[in-house]
Amino acid sequence: MRTAAITAVGYYLPEERLTNADLEKLVETSDEWIVTRTGIKERRILRDPAKATSYMAVQAAQQLLDKRGISADEIDCIIVGTVTPDMFFPATACLVQDQLGASNAFGFDLSAACSGFLFSLTTGARFIESGRCKKVLVIGADKMSSIVDYSDRTTCIIFGDGAACVLLEPDEEGYGLIDYIERADGSQRDLLYMAGGGSLNPPTHATVDAKMHYLVQEGRSVFKYAVTGMADVAEQIMTRNNLTGDDIRYLVPHQANLRIIDATAKRMGIGQEKVMLNIHRYGNTTAATIPLCLADWEHELRRGDNLVLAAFGGGFTWGAAYLKWAYDGARFPVPAHVAAELENAQ
Ligand code: UT7
Repeated sequence: MRTAAITAVGYYLPEERLTNADLEKLVETSDEWIVTRTGIKERRILRDPAKATSYMAVQAAQQLLDKRGISADEIDCIIVGTVTPDMFFPATACLVQDQLGASNAFGFDLSAACSGFLFSLTTGARFIESGRCKKVLVIGADKMSSIVDYSDRTTCIIFGDGAACVLLEPDEEGYGLIDYIERADGSQRDLLYMAGGGSLNPPTHATVDAKMHYLVQEGRSVFKYAVTGMADVAEQIMTRNNLTGDDIRYLVPHQANLRIIDATAKRMGIGQEKVMLNIHRYGNTTAATIPLCLADWEHELRRGDNLVLAAFGGGFTWGAAYLKWAYDGARFPVPAHVAAELENAQ
């Protein structure tokens, strides 16, 4: 059977760090509140107004190509999971295609909020499984700072900017994506959304005045759905693949809230040492969280490791994927900023 295996990872993070101390100066909040309620310590911000989501996506993709040792024209398809495209159209994927020089690729953006990467991955996998494509570049990238209201303490403490990507290639030896679950429930659309800018509320002075171009989240309600939604699909995918906690090398969860992640891990019967967690470094980067985890942990991953990816986000959208890691990550270094953090912690 032909499966879609991840064969390379790339990432890009803007240099600028927005710490909890910085946010204390902007809104009525505290480092203590943010850390205990969310686990976040700082986020990255792409400050340069001339740079947007495609810039970060291209940097991440170029790193991936260099690591894999292939040229851009070998890519067949580019999928960009994002809710902060550079513009409505052309798709960010087209901007990435052009800037990379991926002359043989088609591409499109996929809008599924915090499940954007997971759905892009499973969509890309189908192109590989069907035999239509040999190399699919799957990117999760969001410049959340472009839609965050930095006077709203309930949302501005959560989100950050970043991009990361994976390459999908065919595998015939049982590695790669084995199973996936994708879900959506639009009836809860009023709990996490951005009202302005689309065809329902096109931009006007009035929509700007009403702050309709910022994201809005009813945090407590989203939390309740997320905590059960993410754990449900993670448990479901384990059950139908006969996996126990002992079989899992890592849970790779969307990084929205430490408490949601803890609940998912508990339901899966795995300890914290098996959970990829970097929310303290980057906050919630929406579509970039899961591939940023893969980038941070790549050096620890070995061929055959069982990973469960799980996400929950606006829409609602949610899902899980079970994959067998296809290559030895030991040949890649620990990202420098991660190494520095680990050293400081000792
Ligand atoms: O990634 C996509 C999906 N999104 C999620 O999964 C996010 C899910 N939700 C959450 O992670 C949490 O709901 C939040 C982190 C957003 C909020 O945490 P919470 O424990 O649910 O807090 P809350 O909204 O229930 O607010 C508790 C209190 C409120 O005050 P009162 O009403 O109890 O007096 C808020 O006004 O905390 C207050 N508060 C803050 N205080 C200090 C809200 N934001 C802040 C803040 N600093 N930044």
